[in-house]
Amino acid sequence: MMDRLTVHEAPAVEVVDVRKEFANFIALHGVSVDIRRNEFFSLLGPSGCGKTTLLRIIGGFEAPTGGEVRIHGESVVDLPPYRRKTNMVFQHLALFPHLSVVENILFPLEMKRTPAALARKKAMDVLEMVRLSGMQDRKIHELSGGQRQRVAIARALVGDPEVVLLDEPLGALDLKLRLQMQEELRRLQKAVGSTFIFVTHDQAEAIAMSDRIAVMQAGRIIQVGTPHDIYETPSCRFVADFIGHSNLLKGVVAQEPGGEHCVVSVGDIRLTGLCRATVTRGQDVTVAIRYEKIRVARSLPKNCSNAFDADVVDVKYLGSALRLKLALSQGQQLQADLPPDFESSAIRQGARVTVSIEPSNVVVLAD
Ligand SMILES: Nc1ncnc2c1ncn2[C@@H]1O[C@H](COP(=O)(O)OP(=O)(O)OP(=O)(O)O)[C@@H](O)[C@H]1O
Ligand SMILES: [Mg+2]
Repeated sequence: MMDRLTVHEAPAVEVVDVRKEFANFIALHGVSVDIRRNEFFSLLGPSGCGKTTLLRIIGGFEAPTGGEVRIHGESVVDLPPYRRKTNMVFQHLALFPHLSVVENILFPLEMKRTPAALARKKAMDVLEMVRLSGMQDRKIHELSGGQRQRVAIARALVGDPEVVLLDEPLGALDLKLRLQMQEELRRLQKAVGSTFIFVTHDQAEAIAMSDRIAVMQAGRIIQVGTPHDIYETPSCRFVADFIGHSNLLKGVVAQEPGGEHCVVSVGDIRLTGLCRATVTRGQDVTVAIRYEKIRVARSLPKNCSNAFDADVVDVKYLGSALRLKLALSQGQQLQADLPPDFESSAIRQGARVTVSIEPSNVVVLAD
């Protein structure tokens, strides 16, 4: 009884110290993460960081060199893909070109020996879900790229998998279709109530879609959190730089943390910022400040926090924002995004302005 209770409460997927070596290359260095039930969870990171490798290990298409994978509390490392509660959309779709749409979708059900009539019904239901009803008899080569992507997603959803693994399923789509399919995937995930593990190298996509994100770099998971956590409080330089647009300034700790904040000297400017890392006075640190968190004015009230003067060296109109390049007195530069309707006469190139940044928007990083 106790065991059943424990299994029932286990996360959807537990990855425990998973390592993967290819010949003498280490693709994963002991990765651990828990993915909760019914969560839309993204693996985010640059090309080659190990996202596909980790997903293939969860799906059973690759054996780990070491470590453990549990799905709903049950160890699966010795189970083949079709015996796991997972279905996968592959990075390169892997549809069978000579089969029709419906035959592609029936394939995983045949592997699981689902009775034919039931399989057909499940396939038609899932085709309706991805809005491909009426196209079941087309061959794959008679479909557009977006329709093929939907077939691959339908094939991964059929048979009620507990966990759906999606490897860059929107990679081949143009921006407009991609945004539309992002909405669709969120809708499908809520509708089927499965856990989705979604791989992307697109930070905006991960932020828009996920309940939580794991950021990967060179075979390691370096931060796990909600999109808000990852965006507002990156844990290191890499995350701050990879997600959104951040200024990364070199500084020295001038005053050790009291509570969550510490004071950093950046040249002759002193900035109070959020500091989650353990730092000591005199230590070299990086200060991360997002472009859109910077306020710029001709002059500011005297008691404004983190306020200093800067010279505008460039103004660029980007449509959604006005991007300023600002020179600080000691030679470092700062970029700031302002609303495009910001009164432009005051901030022409060459103008001297006052900059201010809320301490909660100044993130002090130890690396
Ligand atoms: N079968 C293999 N043999 C040797 N090296 C491999 C193999 N598969 C992957 N790798 C290497 O492992 C690393 C991780 O590859 P992986 O495909 O997991 O990256 P990824 O994060 O999915 O990248 P992308 O965003 O480009 O798809 C890469 O350096 C890759 O070259
Ligand atoms: Mg990949």
